[in-house]
Amino acid sequence: MLKDKDRIFKNLYGTLGAGLKDAQKRGDWDDTKKYVTKGSSWIIEEIKKSGLRGRGGAGFPTATKWGFVPKPTKEKPAYLVVNADESEPGTCKDRDILRHEPHKVLEGSVITASVIGARVAYIYIRGEYFHEANCLQSAIDEAYDAGLLGKNTKTGWDMDIYIHRGAGAYICGEETALLESLEGYKGMPRLKPPFPAVVGLYGCPTLVNNVETLSVVPSILRRGADWHRSIGTEQSAGPKIFCISGHVNTPCNVEESFGISIKEMIEKHAGGVRGGWDNLLAIIPGGSTTPVIPKNICDKITLDYESLMKAQSGLGTGAIIVIDKSADILKVITRIAKFYMHESCGQCTPCREGTGWMWRVLQRMCVGNATVPEIDELWEVTKQIEGHTICAFGDAAAWPIQGLIRHFRPEIEKRIKKYNAIATA
Ligand SMILES: Cc1cc2nc3c(=O)[nH]c(=O)nc-3n(C[C@H](O)[C@H](O)[C@H](O)COP(=O)(O)O)c2cc1C
Ligand code: SF4
Repeated sequence: MLKDKDRIFKNLYGTLGAGLKDAQKRGDWDDTKKYVTKGSSWIIEEIKKSGLRGRGGAGFPTATKWGFVPKPTKEKPAYLVVNADESEPGTCKDRDILRHEPHKVLEGSVITASVIGARVAYIYIRGEYFHEANCLQSAIDEAYDAGLLGKNTKTGWDMDIYIHRGAGAYICGEETALLESLEGYKGMPRLKPPFPAVVGLYGCPTLVNNVETLSVVPSILRRGADWHRSIGTEQSAGPKIFCISGHVNTPCNVEESFGISIKEMIEKHAGGVRGGWDNLLAIIPGGSTTPVIPKNICDKITLDYESLMKAQSGLGTGAIIVIDKSADILKVITRIAKFYMHESCGQCTPCREGTGWMWRVLQRMCVGNATVPEIDELWEVTKQIEGHTICAFGDAAAWPIQGLIRHFRPEIEKRIKKYNAIATA
């Protein structure tokens, strides 16, 4: 378990004040200039040594991504874009950072902007986060008033930060759709390559990072890369905010170290599974995209990138959705499939047509009105979508259904048999 002294987000629950003075008492904006002055190479090296991986869902090594951004020129300035879209179902960690620890995002943005030479950062926040956008704006205003943003700053890096409010489409969390939306177009993903690092906002070098990723950067520099590395596992370093929802007694967000067992996480922080651990059916470990894992795997598994990958699922955003035995797992996944059908931007045929097709088949399977070969057909369609689309949304739509078939095929077959028995009786 994470020790109290190792917590980065001491005000995760909003008990200590989110304003600048309170944030400074917790160490925010402390000696920012010292770290900025050390320069890009030093900061990138520290973050690389720390093992920090992006917290937006894909877990890409943060320092490596920073290294892809070419030096800005007069014609092509660099931009930092903070991804505060947080649309992955089950995920609500960035929300707590934005309303309770907004100065961490701002300080992290200043340090990161200095690394890539960006003088402007845009924070793209989902429209539904109205209160959070207000909290963030207050923090930005305070930072300007205190000489931490703007011109001739105390941080040694002059820059501006603007908030841009989205209109509530899931796909706008995908970084290239986000950039399209920021530019004023429909939020539709761009083909990659070129990657945003090279051709991003307004065709210029752009770094897109998640709120949580940027918020932890100042603490890592202050406490040292070795401190961050010493927490978690080999490939999943540091503490992280996990969101626990669903059939638990006390749903919550909690900062924990990677590598904790899923059982300990739920029992220590979320009051246990409703009706006890033996009442657990399955868990979706990292937001609705990540394949469901049944209880027998949950009994043993730890929360880190490597174990969850081995279990053919993923850590994703760290949003743990707990499903107890009272739930109909087919209905759960069917509802998720409906969400992806609704949110597809429609550019790619496999995603546009496939998401609707899968949802319709699943709806029939929920009541057993299907055939056993259709289970294989459904699996095949998920494989035709996965990896065959412009953006990773296609994979996101396919994986939950693959998880269902992988672990709950007997339940689908049972339902089909029962339906047919009644139909032919
Ligand atoms: C369909 C889809 C939705 C996404 N939604 C979000 C989101 O809401 N927030 C986020 O930070 N990243 C989201 N991402 C990941 C971003 O594209 C991008 O990888 C991330 O912001 C990079 O930040 P990181 O390296 O700090 O994790 C999404 C990706 C996909 C494919
Ligand atoms: S995969 Fe889906 S969401 Fe992504 S670009 Fe294609 S149609 Fe749009």
